[in-house]
Amino acid sequence: MKKNNRYISIPSRLSGAIGIFGIFFFIVGCSTNDSEQTATNSSVVENHPNKDSELALLMRKMYAETDSIKQLIITNEGIISKEYIASLEKIHTAIPTDANVKTPEFKAYTELMVNEANALFSNEQNKKEGFNNLVDKCVQCHQSFCPGPIKKINKLRIN
Ligand code: HEC
Repeated sequence: MKKNNRYISIPSRLSGAIGIFGIFFFIVGCSTNDSEQTATNSSVVENHPNKDSELALLMRKMYAETDSIKQLIITNEGIISKEYIASLEKIHTAIPTDANVKTPEFKAYTELMVNEANALFSNEQNKKEGFNNLVDKCVQCHQSFCPGPIKKINKLRIN
């Protein structure tokens, strides 16, 4: 009996520790605290010590793609694509770090953003304004669910 316990208790302690670290990094990543924000931007967004959720990976990809679209609009070489809008729609099904974020409000924010992206797709005149409206949609959801990256997201804006 004693022998068995050794084998069982070590892995379960380990997984407890991993769980606590997971929660810790989620809190840091989505933190509102301003003094923590600079650390957050470099540690969570560049090195990813925690296990990456499907949603977190999707968000990083979307950040990069949104930045590419920004360049296309600035240089007047292109605009948002249907593929980009399709990746936004994946937010509905991607598994987050914290399952509690998947509320009706979260779903509504995703829909608002997809609508804004579709509006930008068919907008020939004010691409810059349409693009900044899209970035606003990222920020609005983040204000409710994940304030940490807001500073970084605001850098996507076209001035
Ligand atoms: C419907 C709500 C919602 C919308 C809209 C949204 N996000 Fe997020 N975002 C989240 C949540 C929740 C997380 C935390 C993901 C996790 O840890 O599972 C997150 C995480 C992130 C992260 C950090 C990823 C990491 O862990 O490194 C970045 C960067 C990000 N989002 C950028 C964006 C950008 C850019 C947009 C708009 C194109 C956007 N988000 C739109 C909810 C949203």
